Amino acid sequence: MQARIAVLPGDGIGVEVTAEAVKALRKVAEAYGHSFAFEEALVGGAAIDATGNPLPAVTLELCRRSDAVLLGAIGGPKWDDPRSTVRPEQGLLGLRKNLGLYANLRPVRLYPELLHASTLKPEVVDGVDLLVVRELTGGLYFGQPSGRWETNGQRQAVDTMAYSEGEIERVVRVACELARGRRRKVTSVDKANVLSTSRLWREVATEVAARYPAIAFEHMLVDTCAMRLVRQPKYFDVIVTENTFGDILTDEASVLAGSMGMLPSASLAESNFGMYEPIHGSAPHRAGQNSANPIATVLSAAMLLRHSLSLFTEAEAIERAVAEALAAGYRTNDIVGRSLTLEGIEHLVGTREMGDQIAARL
Ligand code: IPM
Ligand code: MN
Repeated sequence: MQARIAVLPGDGIGVEVTAEAVKALRKVAEAYGHSFAFEEALVGGAAIDATGNPLPAVTLELCRRSDAVLLGAIGGPKWDDPRSTVRPEQGLLGLRKNLGLYANLRPVRLYPELLHASTLKPEVVDGVDLLVVRELTGGLYFGQPSGRWETNGQRQAVDTMAYSEGEIERVVRVACELARGRRRKVTSVDKANVLSTSRLWREVATEVAARYPAIAFEHMLVDTCAMRLVRQPKYFDVIVTENTFGDILTDEASVLAGSMGMLPSASLAESNFGMYEPIHGSAPHRAGQNSANPIATVLSAAMLLRHSLSLFTEAEAIERAVAEALAAGYRTNDIVGRSLTLEGIEHLVGTREMGDQIAARL
């Protein structure tokens, strides 16, 4: 198969981790006889520095004529001035909105080798395998009005949480469809005891779920969900929730997997088109040190193969290669020293070496 993949490294460690994901994809192409064309473009802080715009038109155009987008991470202290009107995050949000990437899949699973990497008790996290489907183009992130002003010498600000039934319907449908291939359980998370948007969410989600009789469907308040995620994470199969709740809950859920450096994501549009990125940030303090964990991005590349290119065997090959590299004891900084291999030996490696270990197993 031929595919065009846009690569947007972004800022900080984004540059290093995307390089390792591309390394894995090149190896897959070679091993399975595919031809992937990679083309790079700027986004985030790097794009602000070069063009003044966190999402240059050429970057958006490249994404539009590609089959999928692989993204690293964006942001950093350099662009963090709260008074600045241009922010790296606008690049990421602009991509999500302009490309119609409304369904953000964030799978959380614990590799057995990392059982002791979590700060939670092994018996609590052992066997965790859940999927958060986060709504990605609505809610507080995009609702209007949003801004700040001053009245009578008081600084004020507003953000708006807004949802239409169509936005809720399509993302809950994605969650139900994905649950069919899993343990057939969907937990829809909201704050319906307080928020109007959540009451609409609950109503529409109930209607969608009625079309999936084989799925065990339930509602849960977001505060309860936050507690349950660390108390009894194995309770969950698929969680579907709005944008901000999903953002917060997935950082929390990453603790279950031992490190943010392990969690990939897929952001999907109505078509097969998607953007794939680790859920972690640009970690400016680690940038350029060859110490970041590339696994989240490499696993995002596996999701790219599965969801945008329908290359299922190849996706599984990447996931298996990651599991094998971990089983062989290879560990980056974030996951070292808290786990034991069968032989009790761990090898601390850098970003590139971890990427090499994975690629060698493809
Ligand atoms: C994420 C990030 C982004 C978000 C930021 C960088 C805008 O935290 O992808 O989870 O809040 O969605
Ligand atoms: Mn986040």
